[in-house]
Amino acid sequence: MAADTRGSASGAKAKLPQQRPGNPLRDNADRRLPRVPPPCALVVFGITGDLAQKKLLPAVYDLANRGLLPTSFVLLGFARRDWGDGEFIELAHKAAKEHARTPWREDVWKRLASSCKFVPGAFDDDAAFDTLAETLLDLEESHGVSGNAAFYLSIPPDSFPVVLKQMQRTGMADNIDDSITGYWRRVVVEKPFGHDLASSRELNELVDSVFTAQDVFRIDHYLGKETVQNLLALRFANTLFEPVWNSHHVDSVQITMAEDVGIGSRADFYDATGTARDVVQNHILQLLALTAMEEPVEYTPDAIRIEKLKVLRAISLPEDLPRYAIRGQYTQGWLAGQRVPGYVQEEKVPDDSTTETYVALRLGVQTRRWAGVPFYLRAGKRLPRRVTEIALTFRPAPHVPFTASDTESLGQNQLVVRVQPDEGVTLKFGSKVPGTVMEVRDVAMDFLYGTAFTEASPEAYERLLLDVLIGDATLFPRHEEVEASWAVIDPLEEFWAGQEPAHYRGGEWGPTEADEMLASDGRAWRRP
Ligand code: BG6
Repeated sequence: MAADTRGSASGAKAKLPQQRPGNPLRDNADRRLPRVPPPCALVVFGITGDLAQKKLLPAVYDLANRGLLPTSFVLLGFARRDWGDGEFIELAHKAAKEHARTPWREDVWKRLASSCKFVPGAFDDDAAFDTLAETLLDLEESHGVSGNAAFYLSIPPDSFPVVLKQMQRTGMADNIDDSITGYWRRVVVEKPFGHDLASSRELNELVDSVFTAQDVFRIDHYLGKETVQNLLALRFANTLFEPVWNSHHVDSVQITMAEDVGIGSRADFYDATGTARDVVQNHILQLLALTAMEEPVEYTPDAIRIEKLKVLRAISLPEDLPRYAIRGQYTQGWLAGQRVPGYVQEEKVPDDSTTETYVALRLGVQTRRWAGVPFYLRAGKRLPRRVTEIALTFRPAPHVPFTASDTESLGQNQLVVRVQPDEGVTLKFGSKVPGTVMEVRDVAMDFLYGTAFTEASPEAYERLLLDVLIGDATLFPRHEEVEASWAVIDPLEEFWAGQEPAHYRGGEWGPTEADEMLASDGRAWRRP
């Protein structure tokens, strides 16, 4: 990039950008330049599924629209449908048009449509996989794509083994060093990564036997969210927050992932999974890791993984599980003026299901920075509103010179990172109420992405897909992190096994047991 010479006297030397030593976000490369992948193919297994239609196809269109796909690019769909390219293009058109973030441009779509291909087949159909492998080989001549391919497994986890073995058999996957082959082959695995520690280990071993570790991209779409990445910027690009980001100043941390929706049409998946495995094991523990981790030595996949892993391995469960590990299930209720069914009344959910749709937990992080600070986590469906946030509550001032009545409306200082919606950060602190007496009341200072920036946030999948095609693994959990997270969840599942969940009415903030849990610690949940 040319150095900025604006404002310099003519003939004066251009000022070089300053290196800031000790900054983990520094890099010699200019990360602001658009990153465009090399010629490549994206092969999606399960292209007709929900995820592909709502997220992946629109994300590919958005990337094309922003000019972030290479000129030689092929989108290859694989699914059990008796389809040709035409039907696939029709599906992709509908999905992209309905869910894309960026404006619709027919010329962009037409160009993308000309690189869409479809191979029909079942996962156990050898002939179909042979055709897929041949199609990949032919891409060099037809589209100028010579070897680079990412395989996205947007399929149920029980189909991973058969698909991976087919890729191995046909030579589509390869675990040979990219510098020897001259091209890369990557695999993208959607969560859940197993359903417990043992099965995640098995899955990791299987994937690692077919692909090299650095070619495996595990998607946790929360890491693709701008606000989640901003946690690192907030903490490590500033000086303001780090000095108070520890047990000397922080009283407690609350991480909330509330959803107003129910389980929709995902009963088969959800009833066998539950909230702890669906979102706590991955999204919430990743948020906790980013909140609690030490500064990485640099902004690279390995440096970040090392720090996150240290946190995940330092997590401790409370001894009193009945009090601090609550699971709930929603019953019939009201949400936004509408009557909503209970969980067991949802289509395809068994009447006697004990699967949880809500979890509240108290965890500890046994490090010098965090020992003694409770991390309260909660996640649930059919709560009053959709909101994900991380709230740090600070200790009260050791001494306040004002009277108790002066400070009646003063709470504890709080820093809230709003992951979604209303993306931004709020700082809550006490201020003097205008008037002739000294009265202190809580006020809030807000940073809102929507007003502070004109740049639009890419959708999480768009960002992550681009990273896969570029080969940037910074925002993808490694298998050690996945295993460390299961090591937290396994004992909880064991404790809950065979127990009835507590109940809460749809549209309420979870079961009363969750409120009692905080009340017994002398605290209360935030009402976001
Ligand atoms: C998914 C879970 O990983 O995340 C869903 O499987 C959940 O159950 C979803 O609804 C929430 O994602 P987001 O981005 O809408 O918060």
